[in-house]
Amino acid sequence: LIEAVNAREILDSRGNPTVEVEVLLDDGIVQRAAVPSGASTGAFEAYELRDGDKSRYGGKGVLKAVAAVVDELGPAIEGVEASEQRIIDEILIETDGTENKSRTGANAILGVSLAVAKAAADSADLPLFRYLGGPNAHLLPVPLFNVINGGEHADNGIDFQEFFLAPIGAETYGESLRWGTEVYHVLKGELKSAGYNTGLGDEGGFAPDLPSNREGLDFLIRAIEKAGFTPGQDIAVGLDVAATEFYKDGVYTVEGKEWSVDTLVDYFADLVANFPIVTIEDALAEDDWDGWKKLTDAIGSKVQLVGDDLFVTNPKRLKQGIDLGVANSLLVKVNQIGTLSETLDAIALATRSGYTSMLSHRSGETEDTTIADLAVAVNAGQIKTGAPARSERVAKYNQLLRIEEDLGDAAVFAGRSAFPRFKG
Ligand code: PGA
Ligand code: ZN
Repeated sequence: LIEAVNAREILDSRGNPTVEVEVLLDDGIVQRAAVPSGASTGAFEAYELRDGDKSRYGGKGVLKAVAAVVDELGPAIEGVEASEQRIIDEILIETDGTENKSRTGANAILGVSLAVAKAAADSADLPLFRYLGGPNAHLLPVPLFNVINGGEHADNGIDFQEFFLAPIGAETYGESLRWGTEVYHVLKGELKSAGYNTGLGDEGGFAPDLPSNREGLDFLIRAIEKAGFTPGQDIAVGLDVAATEFYKDGVYTVEGKEWSVDTLVDYFADLVANFPIVTIEDALAEDDWDGWKKLTDAIGSKVQLVGDDLFVTNPKRLKQGIDLGVANSLLVKVNQIGTLSETLDAIALATRSGYTSMLSHRSGETEDTTIADLAVAVNAGQIKTGAPARSERVAKYNQLLRIEEDLGDAAVFAGRSAFPRFKG
């Protein structure tokens, strides 16, 4: 039974305050969870409550969310069985009482929801991935390493936010981690010798001031080859365009030019034809449903099209997309929706609709590794949690090594099967 719930304000990887929650059970178990935070947030995400008190952390403090945990959300679930995750999440949602979790804050609610799950797992003496996924949890995800950072995550001029390496040809997760990391180091050398800055962006990728988005893909391919791998066969590539950030009034501004959605769709079709791209996330803006339909009809059979800002891990938005035949993959960010149960609902809806799911960190992260366990629990087959650098990113990749070891012979690496629309 849940005996007490505590919360505090801690710092995230960008030096901004975030919520950490601790749950104490009557058997003496204590577990904690910390909440991530985005920069290129979707307009339809659950509400992140910040104090707005300019005298502390420039208004970004989370003492109101902390107080909401201590004074309201915690007391509302005291005495409830920790394994009753769905009931607990319902109580949290009802206690908040708003559609987008804006009164107590989705950051407050998520912290409680995740800490409860971890405490329940510990109380059952199970690792989190087994507690959440049961005996069928066995699939190790392909890590999508975001090795070049642009957009809102870096101070360079690159429009696209993320450039991924996807080591789909590896035999095991551990091998895929090594491959991606080796290419990451070679990429650094390549950028350096071409005269580019090798400082890091928010997610640990390099943030060079490249002249074009295409140049970013060229660098990835060169680095893959130079590291001794075959592009496409061993290591594929991918993009998170985060297009909402450069969309306004029906116009996409890319590389200083104003593009119509048709031009942009043709551009992506050309990229997919010329590079071994397995996945493109948020290729278009979050409210451009017509554009998304065109894009999906044009290249959805050749490449994974992931909805992040488009779906915001919200089963209702995802349902809308499925009904319209838009995108073919769900990006899963626990803090976009705010409870574990609703996150699992979104993934289940994606799976039964033939959509893939990719677990995801946020650009503002902590040492919390819950998403690694969640990826294996639901056999998602894909995870993106930044470059293989910076401890808040590496913490998740390292947790997957532990899970792979724990599963032993039962572990299966998703590899290229994670991308049903794979083209090499
Ligand atoms: P965010 O970026 O965490 O800043 O929203 C990640 C993403 O767009 O996938
Ligand atoms: Zn995204």
